[in-house]
Amino acid sequence: MRKKHAMLAAGVVIALWAGQASGAPRQEPIQPIEAAVIKDPAKVELGKKLFFDPRLSRSGAISCNSCHNLGMGGSDNLKASIGHKWQQGSINSPTVLNSSLNIAQFWDGRAKDLREQAGGPIANPMEMASTHELAVQVLNSIPGYRAEFKQVFGKDDITIDEVTGALAAFEETLVTPNSRFDQWLKGDDKALTVKELAGYTLFKNSGCVACHNGVAVGGNSFQKMGLVAPYQTDNKAEGRAAVTGKDADRFNFKVPTLRNVALTYPYFHDGEAATLTQAVDVMGRLQLGRTFTPDENAQIVAFLKTLTGDQPAIQYPLLPPSADDTPRPAPFVK
Ligand code: HEC
Ligand code: HEC
Repeated sequence: MRKKHAMLAAGVVIALWAGQASGAPRQEPIQPIEAAVIKDPAKVELGKKLFFDPRLSRSGAISCNSCHNLGMGGSDNLKASIGHKWQQGSINSPTVLNSSLNIAQFWDGRAKDLREQAGGPIANPMEMASTHELAVQVLNSIPGYRAEFKQVFGKDDITIDEVTGALAAFEETLVTPNSRFDQWLKGDDKALTVKELAGYTLFKNSGCVACHNGVAVGGNSFQKMGLVAPYQTDNKAEGRAAVTGKDADRFNFKVPTLRNVALTYPYFHDGEAATLTQAVDVMGRLQLGRTFTPDENAQIVAFLKTLTGDQPAIQYPLLPPSADDTPRPAPFVK
């Protein structure tokens, strides 16, 4: 399928970009993602186990992967996540893919990095509904984990710092290089079709790239949702103002990465845009004051779909069994 597109389009694409020496990297406001360099494989492996381990939750049923499903672009594809006791979350779950590239974590940036972020969901009563004390007690009671933490961190007692450190080390490996757009950025003229390239040109020239730029095509600034015209939503999230307390930051959200955006529907902090077509239409009108024709919209959508990179190859981890004195799951108590 891809090959056919490329073949059909190759002639025109080459003609369009004739000024570009074939094979030379392109200078664009978006840069390619490089593959993760794994410095400490044992720590990453431990972090992966924790990411998939539902015993970090009070119910024993919810893991990080429940809401950041690595088989579904690192998200849950729900408008708002389902947490402990089937509670409806208050905001859309962003992808964990490439989240290491973000300026800060969460829609309002309230956690400065992945380590700080990872402690949040474990103790959030709406999400995993445990406490740091209980989660650490559970892990300390499991001989397999005690041995593995000791091997990685060189100390006997597990604390929340090692837990969040290992989770962050794993998350740092969740990058998605080698998308077709990156292949094009690196100089492969045939990587994009004419339509996709037209979509990128429109994305760049109409101003999307002012906010969605850099390696992650976003993730590096906070911007007003509804810059030109106000965004209507029932969602209560205030955005960055919740962190800074400044009125000027009301409705400023972290610009989401557009990497793998074809996989991470629905869109926006309230999950109200079900499709990319809708999201592009809203962005055009509310951020740029521009109504795209159906053709233009389709071109941009075609470009956005080229941002899907190689997904992390995950071998499902085997988790060490609980011991007799491991605190038991409590799915139905608060
Ligand atoms: C019940 C669903 C749920 C669970 C379980 C969950 N998350 Fe999340 N996660 C969310 C939601 C919703 C947000 C956005 C919250 C916000 O911005 O206020 C989020 C945000 C994040 C972010 C920030 C991404 C960004 O771009 O800002 C990271 C990283 C993350 N979660 C990792 C984790 C890890 C690690 C775990 C396990 C310890 C975990 N999550 C468990 C739903 C969940
Ligand atoms: C002024 C900055 C700005 C401009 C310009 C802008 N965006 Fe956005 N974009 C944002 C912000 C902020 C959000 C998150 C808004 C929210 O969730 O409330 C967003 C969200 C998105 C999303 C949804 C991503 C997700 O995971 O939820 C898509 C798709 C998107 N933008 C595409 C575009 C396109 C296409 C253009 C050009 C037509 C564009 N954006 C122009 C700031 C901008």
